[in-house]
Amino acid sequence: MDDAERLGADELQDLQLKRLQWTLAHAYANVPLYTRKFDAAGVHPDDCRSLADLAKFPFTTKHDLRDEYPFGMFAVPQSDVRRIHASSGTTGKPTVVGYTERDIDTWAGVMARSIRAAGGRPGHKVHVAYGYGLFTGGLGAHYGAEKLGCTVIPASGGMTARQVQIINDFRPEIIMVTPSYMLTLLDEFERQGLDPRQSSLRVGIFGAEPWTEQMRAEIEERADLDAVDIYGLSEVMGPGVAQECVETKDGLHVWEDHFYPEIVDPVDECVLAEGETGELLFTSLTKQALPIIRYRTRDLTRLLPGTARPAFRRMEKVTGRSDDMIILRGVNVFPTQIEEIVLRTEGLAPHFQIRLSTQDRMDALTVLVEARAETATDRRIDAAAELVAGIKDSVGVSVAVDVSDPDTLERSVGKMRRVIDERGRP
Ligand code: DLL
Repeated sequence: MDDAERLGADELQDLQLKRLQWTLAHAYANVPLYTRKFDAAGVHPDDCRSLADLAKFPFTTKHDLRDEYPFGMFAVPQSDVRRIHASSGTTGKPTVVGYTERDIDTWAGVMARSIRAAGGRPGHKVHVAYGYGLFTGGLGAHYGAEKLGCTVIPASGGMTARQVQIINDFRPEIIMVTPSYMLTLLDEFERQGLDPRQSSLRVGIFGAEPWTEQMRAEIEERADLDAVDIYGLSEVMGPGVAQECVETKDGLHVWEDHFYPEIVDPVDECVLAEGETGELLFTSLTKQALPIIRYRTRDLTRLLPGTARPAFRRMEKVTGRSDDMIILRGVNVFPTQIEEIVLRTEGLAPHFQIRLSTQDRMDALTVLVEARAETATDRRIDAAAELVAGIKDSVGVSVAVDVSDPDTLERSVGKMRRVIDERGRP
């Protein structure tokens, strides 16, 4: 553990307050959007005398970043910005983020800490199959692994057959990849006649999209490795905001010396107590190029006390985003709820997509899912019926299920597109 991971609760809070006060002053002085927002809310950075005072400050949303496209959120001169990343977003302009040299170093530091918490050690080989480029996954993992003293294999996403060959030949201990692309890789191992359980991989650091405990069990069983969760978002830094520890696998420790978390009720926007579920917010504590204040992540989770890293609180695995929530005939449905039930239904593969359509002017949901290779035709019919019943039982909605042959659905090479929305189409 590094020094910050050993801080006592009071020491951490003192550090957080000092850094928070610096961040608020830095943002107010250098980003016109924050000046306007703080003034409009009648607050000034000097009003922050305790961590609880943060609640007086206004939120920042993805819209704010879009409105300030491309560089309006930057708090330092462009010549001090060493790197830019952007997240694609599903519609409209991307959100653009920037890093100073120190920010890149901070990021590498929290990523190194994350990889170590996952079980990585200096000297390990780390296969990075998160995409390189404007997406923060590849380069974020890369710099962190180097900082920890690992040997990086910068594979990026795609060219699946070659990835498997490289893993087989280079023998990395660690893989960093989205859980859905890990499934694609596992299928490819089997297609090449290789047993993934015999591979050199010991730890998988999976994130960038929601995944369930059932998916953890599936991957751990098929690949014989420890699967741990990593969380982050570009607006706050990239991967490495929070990380699950391999010894406990009980949610993700938030690296609170750099990122201050809050949970708010998404409707009345009040701060919720530890243990209560709501929308996760982050305030950066050390970022220079893009200080971010009370950023509304739209991710739903709750905060819990620290365990393996007692200095830091944990966030429960994020299984839903308010954006991904489907409202089907008045019932809220998250894709992860469907994932859980698909994975516990015998005979079904973990590859599925959700298609939304309009039938008789009503919304309809069809789960498209593959059968496992060894599943007999009779079993497919029963599995479909069990899935329909399981979803009705635990989610409370009636859906249709379409079980297809193995290898027929779209495969992930990064973040999986779980929902295909065809509502309103002729
Ligand atoms: O996905 C950063 C990242 C890269 C995280 C690699 C982990 C590993 P964005 O593209 O900005 O950044 O997307 C951020 O992805 O708000 C969540 O909704 C979702 N997300 C990220 N990690 C997890 C996770 C990267 N472990 C958005 N579990 C976030 C669930 C996650 N959702």
